[in-house]
Amino acid sequence: MPLQDDSNPGDLDWRDGQPFSRRFCDVYFSRSSGMAEARHVFLDGNRLRDRWAALAPGNSFVVGETGFGTGLNFLCAWALWEETAPRDARLHFVSVEAYPLARSDLARALALWPELDRFRNALEPAWEAFSPGWHRIAFASGRVLLTLVVGDAATALPRLDAAVDAWFLDGFAPARNPDMWSPALLAQVARLARPGATFATYTAAGEVRRGLETAGFAVRKAAGFGRKREMLAGALVRPPPGAGHAPWFARPAPHAAERRAVVVGAGPAGAATAASLAARGWTIEVIERRGAARPIEATRHQGVLYAHPSPHPTALNELALTGLQYSSRLLRGGRVPDPHDRDLCGVLQLAYDVQETARQAAVAALGLPLPLLQRVDRAAASDIAGIAVPHGALHFPGAGWVHPPALCAALLDHPAIRLVEASDATSLERGGAQWTVRDAGAILAQAPVVVIAAGAESAQFAQTRHLPLRAIRGQITLLPATRGSAALRTVLCGEGYVAPARGGVHSLGATHKFRDRATDVRAAEHSENLVRLERLAPALHLAVGAARLDAEALSGLAGLRCSSPDYLPLVGPIVDAGEFVRTYAALARDATLPLVSPAPWLDGLYANTAHGSRGLITAPLTGELLAAYLDGEPLPLPGPVATALHPSRFLLRALVRRRVALDASA
Ligand SMILES: Cc1cc2nc3c(=O)[nH]c(=O)nc-3n(C[C@H](O)[C@H](O)[C@H](O)COP(=O)(O)OP(=O)(O)OC[C@H]3O[C@@H](n4cnc5c(N)ncnc54)[C@H](O)[C@@H]3O)c2cc1C
Ligand SMILES: C[S@@+](CC[C@H](N)C(=O)[O-])C[C@H]1O[C@@H](n2cnc3c(N)ncnc32)[C@H](O)[C@@H]1O
Repeated sequence: MPLQDDSNPGDLDWRDGQPFSRRFCDVYFSRSSGMAEARHVFLDGNRLRDRWAALAPGNSFVVGETGFGTGLNFLCAWALWEETAPRDARLHFVSVEAYPLARSDLARALALWPELDRFRNALEPAWEAFSPGWHRIAFASGRVLLTLVVGDAATALPRLDAAVDAWFLDGFAPARNPDMWSPALLAQVARLARPGATFATYTAAGEVRRGLETAGFAVRKAAGFGRKREMLAGALVRPPPGAGHAPWFARPAPHAAERRAVVVGAGPAGAATAASLAARGWTIEVIERRGAARPIEATRHQGVLYAHPSPHPTALNELALTGLQYSSRLLRGGRVPDPHDRDLCGVLQLAYDVQETARQAAVAALGLPLPLLQRVDRAAASDIAGIAVPHGALHFPGAGWVHPPALCAALLDHPAIRLVEASDATSLERGGAQWTVRDAGAILAQAPVVVIAAGAESAQFAQTRHLPLRAIRGQITLLPATRGSAALRTVLCGEGYVAPARGGVHSLGATHKFRDRATDVRAAEHSENLVRLERLAPALHLAVGAARLDAEALSGLAGLRCSSPDYLPLVGPIVDAGEFVRTYAALARDATLPLVSPAPWLDGLYANTAHGSRGLITAPLTGELLAAYLDGEPLPLPGPVATALHPSRFLLRALVRRRVALDASA
């Protein structure tokens, strides 16, 4: 299924072979030479050649842009980066764009510059019909990261969490598009700039100059490009007072010391965290309780990339949709090399009852673009599935399934990652600048940073005991495929899920059992799964001969999900719980008090856990989030969503609701 439609959200026209916006009645770049203009205005205007040549090895640099357009500025910046920056430095390019171009238009525009072909050939295949929101795409093995924020800059920039070193202000002429140059928007540009950050823009309009000065920039006029006499450039000299985070949700300063970490747990969250850190030059040891030998069942099952979106803009919904697209992109990009281990065959989420039907209608009404999802009726759903289904559905053509161990293995496959299996981390202890991770008495590993990604066991350590995690047992049935069931072409989800066969078995899941931490495989739960299948797709139930199957003879896999009270993962720094309660005790009397004391961080201790039933779509993205925290980078999702994942949120809630003893540790 192609992931690019031919819509023309940019309302693009071609004039003399050059892109022109009918919506804004303006050109995307100079008619004489867009590339020379990009270099003169944005690269030279920000003095990037010199600044990048002066970067120390391992450093990173953040460019912010208003208006991604054709991506010409991005490719010019990337080309200069390759030429000037140290090999192991990382470029972050964060760009906000309300009307992303169709891939064919992007390709046609960029084909004007054969010098940039090498970079265009990487960008073009990664270019989708993006839905609104945050999209992170890695290029050059992660040395160049694009965070494309799709949406109106006026609403997107206030939600961006980044510290920009150089701004490219490129949002069509102010007379044609005043919204991209409003005082409120320029105030956001200043908020997102590091002290001393520079900007450059091709316009010399008086209101832009005044707006930038009011926002805190020193502005100078420079020689413009081509027929333009002047342009503006400058630097942030009066940083705006930071509204920042409340201190309990603030983050420790980026990690400046030795870039070495221990990750506890080699499931999707631990593997993704290790991968994101290793891509940034960290050295990682991953401690995993399980041994290398796996039961045969564990080598066969499938996990589904499944979002279940809601029509409401909740943090959970934004996380799920951003994560679904991030994980799908990872798989599309070949991250799991063996095609037997993943298939982006699409997912049909069936409208199995009245509430689900209403929910799907409301989601469809949001008008998310087709590559992400579309609503289909029962006949179309059956057509897509290859087998009769009893309901209409939401169809996610770009989603599918992956073999979870293969995903973890692919993420861990990096020379800077060492996997230590059959090792049980039982305690953590901070001494000097290092954490020591022990198995009973023996030292397993030491490093300045530890990330707890131990799933349902994440609260087992003295330092994490306050995290309100619960385990939910689940069981998958491995259902032998038949000639009839081989017709299934796409994943079906409803109150459970079933995937097209992999190696002769369909994964059928999954049960939910509370207050049960056992992981034995049970015939009774196979029977439950078969009942689920009958409701989900009676035709498939028939095709696999489910009525005749002996539940006792079926095989499967049981495990524990780790869930939090608000069903959101916990991702971020860990505090000393007792000290936290003492520091912010006054909030129990008045939750609105403007307290300023910094949170009592446990230096270098982080968590990435509580991924519930959706770790395959949330964990790869939160691996990036954690790495962004540690390296002080732009976040891969909206700031408010990241805050909603903060591990201290439950301590704070308990405090405000007076559900914590104020004289004792929580
Ligand atoms: C039956 C079932 C079906 C599921 N189906 C899907 C699905 O289709 N799609 C989906 O997205 N999600 C699914 N999930 C959920 C998904 O498996 C989780 O969201 C995901 O595994 C979470 O990843 P994690 O790394 O946080 O935790 P885990 O996968 O649980 O990994 C934690 C790891 O830490 C290790 N560990 C724990 N304690 C220690 C210690 N002290 N020392 C060393 N190692 C330790 C554990 O051995 C484990 O390997 C399913 C879960 C179950 C149980
Ligand atoms: C001059 S073009 C950018 C050219 C681009 N930098 C390049 O390298 O091709 C301006 C871009 O701003 C986008 N834009 C206009 N108004 C916007 C808004 N309010 N929010 C976000 N993007 C906007 C347009 O869709 C267009 O792609």
